[in-house]
Amino acid sequence: MKLNVNGRAHDVDADPAMPLLYALADDLGLRGPRLGCGLAQCGSCSVLVDGREMRACVTPLSAIGHREVTTLEGLPGLHARSGRAPTVSGLHPVQEAFIAEQAPQCGYCFNGIAIKAAELLAADPSPTEARVRAALDGHLCRCGTYPRILAAVMRASTAMAGGAR
Ligand code: FES
Ligand code: FES
Repeated sequence: MKLNVNGRAHDVDADPAMPLLYALADDLGLRGPRLGCGLAQCGSCSVLVDGREMRACVTPLSAIGHREVTTLEGLPGLHARSGRAPTVSGLHPVQEAFIAEQAPQCGYCFNGIAIKAAELLAADPSPTEARVRAALDGHLCRCGTYPRILAAVMRASTAMAGGAR
């Protein structure tokens, strides 16, 4: 079957019932999405499918069809195609902000939180802190770096809205 991932079409020889996460990791070698709970509860495996967050651990390949999958590795390209101002680093503003704020500790949750933040900021580049908190509610950080995560998303929102911080 064909999978459209990060702007490229890939041929994947896999059972259509297999979770997307395994195809991304084992067939395409993408390590951004991570297996955590495997039960759609933690968010560490999240990807964007046509711009909407989906939990790759419980999404079968058959549910993807021709839609575009974006992983953490594809966020810079997604931003480049968005028409928004490029970042200094070439990364997505969310990735750049997480580095600037030194937000992750072990980093396990980072994939899902970056994906969710990218989804949110594409729809609303200037969300309130309350909206960011609500958007990230389904993403668990075992290290408890939530204050730095929140600061990073707000920094990214400033960058995407065109301001300076
Ligand atoms: S591994 Fe998919 S939500 Fe936890
Ligand atoms: S930084 Fe360790 S799980 Fe979030």
